Amino acid sequence: MCEIEYKKHYYPKSRTQLLTVLKNSLSLKRYQHLLGVEQAALRLAKLNHEELEKASVAALVHDYAKERTTTEFKKVILEKGLEHDLLNWNNVIWHGVVGAQIIKDELKITDEEILNAVRKHTVGAADMTRLDKIIYVADFIEKGRTFPDAKLARTVAYADLDSAVSFETKHTLQYLMSANKVIYPAAILTYNKWVVEN
Ligand SMILES: [Fe+2]
Ligand SMILES: [Fe+2]
Repeated sequence: MCEIEYKKHYYPKSRTQLLTVLKNSLSLKRYQHLLGVEQAALRLAKLNHEELEKASVAALVHDYAKERTTTEFKKVILEKGLEHDLLNWNNVIWHGVVGAQIIKDELKITDEEILNAVRKHTVGAADMTRLDKIIYVADFIEKGRTFPDAKLARTVAYADLDSAVSFETKHTLQYLMSANKVIYPAAILTYNKWVVEN
């Protein structure tokens, strides 16, 4: 179990207090996923010289809004004046982009790097910081993931972060296409930047 101590106030209280909030507001399955993502994110942060506290906070809150209702997400989009096109999408997209707003309002986390990592964690982006990549990849490789290529994804991730972004993006898009599922346009931009050879 990781025992990182929060000193920089990205989250206004302690890590233990954040864990209590998360445990009380999410299902056990989601809570365990957050802990798994934190563990993977900390390992990636160490390997890639990212600040551990930032990686911990971003990982722990990245799915904070995932269990909110459609009604709540739509209300936040309208009330906060977020991009109108978001109304045409669903929880998969909302819990990142709109979730960041909910995290800001409810958990009082204002660090834009952390909020951006939450915004980008589902579909990535052409422009990703080291922290964005760490959360995007940690979400994909955490120990609770059991899809066939999970082991390979972990090996790639702990060897090279950019390769892991490419691997994950390709894997996700291949899955969406094979299942005839909709692809959020920003995911294509992620693909063009990180998978297509320049
Ligand atoms: Fe997520
Ligand atoms: Fe997640």
